[in-house]
Amino acid sequence: MGKMYISVKKMNPEHIDSIVEIERAVFPTPWSENSFYQEIQSVYSQSFVAVMQRADSEKVVGYLSACCVYEECTINRIACHYHYRNKGIGSMLLEHLIRHAHIHGAKIFPLEVRESNRAAVALYEKFGFVRVGARKRYYTGPPEDALVMVLYGGKITGMSAREPEAHKGLT
Ligand SMILES: CC(C)(COP(=O)(O)OP(=O)(O)OC[C@H]1O[C@@H](n2cnc3c(N)ncnc32)[C@H](O)[C@@H]1OP(=O)(O)O)[C@@H](O)C(=O)NCCC(=O)NCCS
Repeated sequence: MGKMYISVKKMNPEHIDSIVEIERAVFPTPWSENSFYQEIQSVYSQSFVAVMQRADSEKVVGYLSACCVYEECTINRIACHYHYRNKGIGSMLLEHLIRHAHIHGAKIFPLEVRESNRAAVALYEKFGFVRVGARKRYYTGPPEDALVMVLYGGKITGMSAREPEAHKGLT
């Protein structure tokens, strides 16, 4: 893989085809195009994409969708294209959301995650999310319990985000 320059942008309708392609490859019960359209039209949506810059175009390599109502900002979706995992892109997206939402008054960030999803749980713990409960058989296909995790406060600590490799240009 050559050098990679990634930036985080507000999600817009032009991104949705690429997002849904990733969504279908990643989640057993993927959101549809229409779900994303509706999501980004909502005044409560805080949704972003990570795009890789190319010579004359951009490629969506990850995305995050959250719903922020007053102090509460629920993270509904976060995913990266599997070719681009473990390179700091998920962290870039999460950090962007937390900073942005915090400025707009968010103080609590709840989410659900499959309890077997080690990569996601590790990502959330890195940012200071704590486990507050579980929902029995919350997921289908395959059935699994959800962990409920919450970040209180929404301040990025020095510990939470490594310098994303993606900013530096990966080789
Ligand atoms: C979860 C996900 C978004 C993480 O994105 P990513 O870009 O790979 O994550 P990052 O490179 O920013 O890694 C952040 C941290 O996650 C952890 N992590 C990432 N991949 C991991 C893996 N395979 N195993 C264990 N921990 C992992 C590490 O703690 C890492 O911290 P570090 O930077 O100190 O090494 C990505 O794995 C993904 O798209 N998974 C499929 C979709 C999904 O499960 N979404 C969550 C639904 S709740």
